[in-house]
Amino acid sequence: MLPDAVERLNVLVEGHRIASIGAPDSARADEVIDANGLHLLPGLIDDQVHFREPGLTHKEDLHFATRACAKGGVTSFLEMPNTKPTTTTLQALDAKLAIAAQKCHVNYGFYVGATPNNLEVLQAATRTPGIKIFIGSSTGDLLVDAQPALERIFAETTLPICAHCEDETTVQANAARLNGGSEVSDHSLIRDHKAALIATKRSVELAERHRHRFHVLHVSTAEEVEFLRGTSDLITAEACPHHLFFNVDDYARLGTLIQMNPSVKTSADNEAVWRGLLDGTLEVVATDHAPHTLEEKRQPYPKSPSGLPAVENYLALLLNEVNRGRCTLSQIAAWTSAAPARIWNIQEKGQIREGYDADLVLVDLNKTQTILNENQLTKCGWSPWHGETLSGWPIRTWVMGRTVFADGKVIDGVRGEEIRYCRVNT
Ligand code: DOR
Repeated sequence: MLPDAVERLNVLVEGHRIASIGAPDSARADEVIDANGLHLLPGLIDDQVHFREPGLTHKEDLHFATRACAKGGVTSFLEMPNTKPTTTTLQALDAKLAIAAQKCHVNYGFYVGATPNNLEVLQAATRTPGIKIFIGSSTGDLLVDAQPALERIFAETTLPICAHCEDETTVQANAARLNGGSEVSDHSLIRDHKAALIATKRSVELAERHRHRFHVLHVSTAEEVEFLRGTSDLITAEACPHHLFFNVDDYARLGTLIQMNPSVKTSADNEAVWRGLLDGTLEVVATDHAPHTLEEKRQPYPKSPSGLPAVENYLALLLNEVNRGRCTLSQIAAWTSAAPARIWNIQEKGQIREGYDADLVLVDLNKTQTILNENQLTKCGWSPWHGETLSGWPIRTWVMGRTVFADGKVIDGVRGEEIRYCRVNT
């Protein structure tokens, strides 16, 4: 898989780099892997995950989560700041990077979280892809809703910004009207279409007025996709598997397992989010992997927390759509690797290209396998796709030239590296 093309070629890896790409039989190597009938993709860069370390490691941790990444073909991740402590100081960011160096089986990066008063941290942070703002609260207590604080962040920082866009005032008013909600379907009435659209419009307006690079996370509604069609080049946006594959009709079957923020919406919204991807309005597919234990998830709504795990099945879910004719391998490589690398200014990743890091995943479009809770590597040990049979699976993954997953097993002992960013003015 080269950028924009599927070709039959040899890829020669030396050390952690792709040394050359040439005609079949063009290269000699110590080890030769016959990929006849298979496809090699650039390793996935999941730019939205919650790996819970430090502080919430009964749900997930960097060891378990990154084994799940290796199995799922995810060779790099960018993690969100709603851990305990939150990643809202330089010390917390450095501490996370230090733990990651010890524990991660794939490459790692961590966003710095915005609070109403940590502007100097957002200005000083360098070992980070960018700033995460919760414009609307979700799991944890990170929230920046007041206009003056938001104005300052967009005006006085230079790192790219991404945001969780659900309008807090609308969510609170809906919750009050429904007495907090009593069944999980109320979740989509509380975190409704209007809440998503208001916050997305508000943050895009801020970004465009301050000429700031801005990425809209987890777009869930047709209205947001429509609005994003008319925005400037400063704005990019993404979709998540749960907003592509689940909708309110699935609450009857899956209940609080698919309770997410932003909430799942209707089947028409699923279709609109797909259309947004296919026409280029949305450029990234990322998971928002947000594990909670089954015990936590099985509490009655609204006590049940929002979030579901996805990193280990996300590529397979997309490959299954290639087999169904909905999208192509080139589109998957663009949405899951080239686009996040470009948007977050990641150095030498995101493409199968000479000189780039050898973060690669070999996939078998003919392999059929059923997702089962008992086979999940994520520490929370369940998947909302339990029982689903998919065609098209990753079968081997390399991180920086070294195999981390093969023959159905994670190869422990390989460590990922800290992602490097090109610093450009935003
Ligand atoms: O449903 C969600 N869960 N959405 C988020 O934005 C956060 C996440 C979590 O951390 O559990």
